[in-house]
Amino acid sequence: MSKRAGLFISFEGIDGSGKSTQARLLADTLRAQGREVVLTREPGGSPGAEQIRALVLEGEPDRWSPHTEILLFTAARRDHLERTIAPALAAGKVVICDRFADSTRMYQGLSRGDLRALVDQLHDLMIGREPDLTLLIDMDPETGLARALARNGTEERFETFGADLQRRMRAGFLALADEFPDRIRTIDGNRTADAVAADIRTAVESALA
Ligand code: ADP
Ligand code: TYD
Repeated sequence: MSKRAGLFISFEGIDGSGKSTQARLLADTLRAQGREVVLTREPGGSPGAEQIRALVLEGEPDRWSPHTEILLFTAARRDHLERTIAPALAAGKVVICDRFADSTRMYQGLSRGDLRALVDQLHDLMIGREPDLTLLIDMDPETGLARALARNGTEERFETFGADLQRRMRAGFLALADEFPDRIRTIDGNRTADAVAADIRTAVESALA
C-alpha cells in the first residue's frame, strides 16, 4: 500500500464545461505516473448513491421540493464519502471527484431561493470535509449548455432549467472561488481540451508537491 498521503481533488463548473473529460484526462496522467487513482462522480460514486442519482436527475423539474432535494444530494454524498472516498484517501490514493459539495452550494443553495445557509449547515453536520483542491472549469454558459444538450441523455432534470440557470451558476461558482481562494483554482474552459488539461496538471502538481 502507498505510504503517500491521499489527495482529494474535485472538479466543478456548469453543465457541459468539460469536467468529466478533464477528470478522465487527469486520472490517466496520474496513473501513468504510477499513482493509485479513484475516479468518481456525484451524485453517485457508490451503489447506494448511484440509486439516489436516478431519483434526482431523472423526471420532472418540480419532482422534489428544494428542501427534499438538499437532503437527497446530501444523503448520496454521505454514502459516497463513507464507502468510496474516505477508504481511498485512507489508503493513500488520489481521489478525483466529478462534482462535490460546491455543486450543492450552487444548484440547491442558489437556484430555487437562497438556501445556501441551510446547505452549509447540513454539510457541516453530515459531511464535514472539503476537497484538498477544487478545479473550477469556467465556461461561457451558452457553449456549456449546447455541449450538455448535445449529449442527449435522460439525466436532464437540471439542464431543462435552461440558459438562465447556467448563467447564474457560472456567476455563483466564480463568487465561490473568491470565497475559498486557498482551495479553488479557476481554469479557463473556453479552450481546447489539451490546453485546459495542461493548466490542470500544473495546479495538481503543486498540490501534490
Ligand atoms: P461536463 O462533465 O462538465 O458536463 P463533459 O466533459 O461531459 O462536460 O463535456 C461536454 C461535451 O463537450 C462532451 O461532448 C465533450 O466531448 C465536449 N468537450 C469537452 N471539453 C471540450 C473542449 N475543451 N472543447 C470542445 N469540446 C469539449
Ligand atoms: P453531472 O452528471 O455532473 O452533469 P454535467 O456533466 O451535465 O455537469 O451532474 C448532473 C446534474 O446534477 C448537474 O446539472 C448538476 C446537478 N447537481 C446538483 O444539483 N447538486 C449536486 O450536489 C450535484 C453533485 C449535482
